[in-house]
Amino acid sequence: MSEIIGAIFDLDGVLVDTAKYHYLAWKRLAAELGFNFTEKENEQLKGVSRMRSLEILLEIGNIHANEKQKEEWAQKKNEWYVEYLNRLDKDALLPGTEKYLEKLQKHCIKIALGSASKNAPLILEKLHITSFFNALIDGNCIEKAKPDPEIFLKSAEAIHLQPKECVVFEDSEAGICAAKNGGMMAVGIGSQEIIPGADLYAANLSELCNKKFLLEG
Ligand code: BG6
Ligand code: MG
Repeated sequence: MSEIIGAIFDLDGVLVDTAKYHYLAWKRLAAELGFNFTEKENEQLKGVSRMRSLEILLEIGNIHANEKQKEEWAQKKNEWYVEYLNRLDKDALLPGTEKYLEKLQKHCIKIALGSASKNAPLILEKLHITSFFNALIDGNCIEKAKPDPEIFLKSAEAIHLQPKECVVFEDSEAGICAAKNGGMMAVGIGSQEIIPGADLYAANLSELCNKKFLLEG
């Protein structure tokens, strides 16, 4: 196995506790459209783009709509989501985020963001963690949603590394598939039952802070 010298992070649910706000905003839209949307169903939306998420939601609710209507609903959901984001503070960082990023930086590991979110720059700025990243690849830079590997291949390229030299940290099944499809090692943040397919698992980054993983040298 090649030496791992690059780390690519998903954002929502890995570095920041925003996955719950995505869920609440979609749940609100579902309620307006007249159906209930559960946390279990929400797993299918993690890691995928805003429009694809809406399509999955509408399939669950058995609702048909034209493109214009879909655009309006996606925008509405995003406005509710951004209301939550505007209230974000450092408490939204998940356990170990800053400590782990600091450790990787100290060990000269290149760090990239690989997030499907178009709101990623806003979130990083609000939490003052933008400067940890050598490259930012987000929903504004990609055409194909996870599980397509495009986002992580672009992230690796942006930090001038081969895919096999990078590890991806992900909390979604689509994201883990994307990492493996791109030939990268995948660390699942969460449990194997909910997000199968990763090479190793941790409950959060704090758990990895005290391990030697990635930090030799
Ligand atoms: C991902 C989330 O990080 O970003 C998805 O896991 C979300 O749930 C996607 O749909 C797009 O986010 P945004 O902020 O561009 O609507
Ligand atoms: Mg995520």
